[in-house]
Amino acid sequence: MNKTVKITINGEVFEQSVPVRMLLSDFIREVASLTGTHIGCTYEGVCGACTVQVDGEAVKSCLMLASQADGHNVTTIEGLAKDGKLSPLQQAFNDHHALQCGFCTPGILMNMDEFLKVNPNPTDDEIRTGLVGNLCRCTGYAHIIDAVRDAAKRAR
Ligand code: FES
Ligand code: FES
Repeated sequence: MNKTVKITINGEVFEQSVPVRMLLSDFIREVASLTGTHIGCTYEGVCGACTVQVDGEAVKSCLMLASQADGHNVTTIEGLAKDGKLSPLQQAFNDHHALQCGFCTPGILMNMDEFLKVNPNPTDDEIRTGLVGNLCRCTGYAHIIDAVRDAAKRAR
């Protein structure tokens, strides 16, 4: 069974009839062709690579149906930089070498972008707790925590 859904992604409206069981992550990648949202754990909700923001709130897009996002605003990693300029958080990741293979990075950035809006002055422990839903197999997290801490400091 199909349903027509209309989702605004990074300011662009995508309206299409899709299977009612289509995941938001698949809508983003297959309908909107925005492949920066990664699938790392075959839709089990454990890796966080698929994290996007729905109405500003970080969500794992493999745990949400596209039909549940009908009428909502989604931001993906492609929407984080503005006018070709990295967001302050992206710049901090770049400056602190907070990524290696980069597979986890879009999801971590979308999660931490919301995290810093809610908690603009986090302790390292709070950053670690905020990252609990994002798996990174490369970095050991130390540089990621440095980058998030520095991004928060730059924003103050
Ligand atoms: S692909 Fe969504 S949490 Fe891993
Ligand atoms: S940088 Fe490779 S998984 Fe995080």
